[in-house]
Amino acid sequence: MPRRSCTSGDLSGNKIASIFRRYTLVCPRCGREYEPTPFRFCCEHCGELLDAVLDLSRVSIDLEHIRRNRNVGVWAFRDVLPQVSHVVSLREGNTPLLKLENVVDGKVYVKYEGLNPTGSFKDRGMTVGVSIAKSIGARYIIVASTGNTAASAAAYSSRGGLSCLVVVPHGGIAKGKLAQAVLYGAKVVEVEGNFDRALSLVLDTLRKVGKDNLVYLLNSVNVWRLEGQKTTAYEIFLDIGVPDYVIVPVGNAGNIYAIWKGFMELRELGLIDKMPRMIGVQAEGAAPIAYAWQKGLSEPLFTDNPRTVASAIRIGRPVNWYRAWRAVVRSGGMFLTVSDEEIIEAQKLLGKEGIAVEPASATTLAAYVKLRESGVLERDDVVVLIATGHGLKDPDIILTLNAERYRVSEPEDLLKLLA
Ligand code: F0G
Repeated sequence: MPRRSCTSGDLSGNKIASIFRRYTLVCPRCGREYEPTPFRFCCEHCGELLDAVLDLSRVSIDLEHIRRNRNVGVWAFRDVLPQVSHVVSLREGNTPLLKLENVVDGKVYVKYEGLNPTGSFKDRGMTVGVSIAKSIGARYIIVASTGNTAASAAAYSSRGGLSCLVVVPHGGIAKGKLAQAVLYGAKVVEVEGNFDRALSLVLDTLRKVGKDNLVYLLNSVNVWRLEGQKTTAYEIFLDIGVPDYVIVPVGNAGNIYAIWKGFMELRELGLIDKMPRMIGVQAEGAAPIAYAWQKGLSEPLFTDNPRTVASAIRIGRPVNWYRAWRAVVRSGGMFLTVSDEEIIEAQKLLGKEGIAVEPASATTLAAYVKLRESGVLERDDVVVLIATGHGLKDPDIILTLNAERYRVSEPEDLLKLLA
């Protein structure tokens, strides 16, 4: 495994400590423990990304209070989040869980994360990450992105009065996402190469910034961002309890871990007594984790040339792969791949439910269909699909679909269409 250059970015002061009270950072490989800081993400000994372990014995959850405050969204779960002094919010979270009625015969729910303020699940994490940045006096937010992280970081930075720099693959992100980053006022840097190249450029740059605390990284290596994303699990639990399966698109591989962690916490809190199996989906041309899984390997088959129509998950070297791997292994789940054709087909199917998702999110329904056909999933299984991003992010893809589009000028022509 490549060693990461780890800095602790130690900040002294009770203010910082109080944000992360009740948390310990623990290395999942070697077990070493660290004091939490806003900047410490990986183990100084073995380089692995650290887990943020919350001392749940010191947390009391008032479910009735949370239910009454669901419309607050992510911050309704503030008891299990970092205790920031400034909340930067756009009312993210509290997204609908919709049961599919037309296109499948099973018990399938869509967690419609596209209805977050910037149209993706990233907002759950960004509200926490930018709130931390604001609380510690950071000035700049920086991210590498396939698009959604850029849009979300840009929006929350503006909302919080911070500057934002996003680094994206030139020509590799959907138009809607680029437009959002521009609208929200970020500096947009387009690099030659893919997301992995953009991320390594950002990480190399941060090493040069050193321990200057003014620039705050909000990619999913930042474990505090994932704390916000875990609230997806809390919301699913409040809506339907524990599903049998949760299917999640996997790109840089942070979100599937975050959702699993949320369910693990619910179990530790004594609120649930079983776990859902986590299923991670990758697109065939960008599936370093799923191929390794299928071959029975213990490390990903990284690729330098990821290709898929689902640009959000066009990632060849997912930095969080070990997090995702543990979520899937420990929950008794699996990884699988779907083809671009299956993705587009599933995107159309969701359209028939009135649900607009981008291709990366459609991987979940494509996976469900595939797993039903192969008999891995059964009709009675309760399955939640995490629909991570809104369809309008990437209209170009949708406009390539076979469409019922006509040009008419006379009522008679319209009448024919109504027949
Ligand atoms: N779905 C969508 C719509 C995404 O934008 C992403 C990731 C994922 C799924 C995968 O989530 O990385 O946690 O496994 N988008 C990142 C970005 C990489 O830059 O917007 P993951």
